[in-house]
Amino acid sequence: MLPLFYPKNLIGLDIGTSAVKLIELDEIKGSYKLKNFGVAKLPKETIVNGVVINADALVQSIKNLTSNLKINCKNVAISISGHPVIIKKISLPFMTEDELEPIIETEAEQYIPFDVEEVNVDFQMLGVNEENPEEIDVMLVAAKKAMIEEYTDVIQNSGLKTSIIDIDVFALENMFEINYTAEENEIIALIDIGASVTNINIVKNSVSIFNRDVFLGGNQITEEIQKDLSVSFEEAEILKTGEKIEGINNEILNQTIAKSSSSIAREIQRTLDFFAGSNYSEIQHIYLSGGGSKTKGLKEIIEEKTSSIVEFADPFKSIEYNRKNFDTEYIKDVSLFAAVGVGLATRKIGD
Ligand SMILES: Nc1ncnc2c1ncn2[C@@H]1O[C@H](COP(=O)(O)OP(=O)(O)OP(=O)(O)O)[C@@H](O)[C@H]1O
Ligand SMILES: [Mg+2]
Repeated sequence: MLPLFYPKNLIGLDIGTSAVKLIELDEIKGSYKLKNFGVAKLPKETIVNGVVINADALVQSIKNLTSNLKINCKNVAISISGHPVIIKKISLPFMTEDELEPIIETEAEQYIPFDVEEVNVDFQMLGVNEENPEEIDVMLVAAKKAMIEEYTDVIQNSGLKTSIIDIDVFALENMFEINYTAEENEIIALIDIGASVTNINIVKNSVSIFNRDVFLGGNQITEEIQKDLSVSFEEAEILKTGEKIEGINNEILNQTIAKSSSSIAREIQRTLDFFAGSNYSEIQHIYLSGGGSKTKGLKEIIEEKTSSIVEFADPFKSIEYNRKNFDTEYIKDVSLFAAVGVGLATRKIGD
């Protein structure tokens, strides 16, 4: 007899500032197979600082993606990040999840800079506090209702249904979990450098112990190129990827890329130093993802500024795919964009 209920599949939809990334996975006995993957570039200023400015353009891009890829699944997992999202690790007197549930909003009030009426509050139990066994550590997440509505409206207008709203840094963690095995007590930083935001998640023994969004990314590099070489945004994007444009002074271009990469690396280093200083611990291993991490020389600058091993994350490391449907070179080329999307696609309805 067939089982009555199959675990319901979702598509992961990573709505970034520069592009929407759609990923659908099939899970068979704990291993994943790539079913669909697509990227739709967004017109400039569709989303600014996480706020949807041009909802029509976003809806159109999502519709194009789902129709081009012939997606049947209607349920999606999306993620949010940025200023309207607050993530905080807090310690409370020991209690169970059931005891915390009804009082979380009152508890959260003192930790969030918004009116508690304006936000949706969620939490995850992390375990007993290492220093004080009478306390329990909890990851508190609060997101502005207005922002959530903005995104769920877009999904609905695209003919889809929002089943899960995740947070970028946690999606990154899920991507890591299915692909990598960390050593016990190893401290790892997952860093996704996007177009406008860099998500940083520090993880130890499969638990997020620190996270922060830094509002810098590939766009800053593009804007510096625009300014220094008097070119358009589009031309600067082309130049950044190493393609040549006639009449461009390559020496100035390389200097500009090096200078702006350095300032991104410095911000990352500051965040990591802040973590290290307040936790008396060293970050052993950094995994980079996000389109911004493809910037020539950026990985090396991060390597120089930190004493950690730095490598590019491979979101498809443990995901099988049919070589007839997906070109290996293409997958390699786009893998860094896919980190958050892969993490979202591993989610299941109701988990
Ligand atoms: N080959 C490349 N070299 C340098 N930068 C690149 C390259 N390819 C893409 N980028 C940059 O990567 C960024 C887009 O990456 P990604 O798709 O991860 O961002 P996003 O998810 O759209 O943005 P965010 O997460 O900040 O909202 C852009 O700034 C783009 O210019
Ligand atoms: Mg992104």
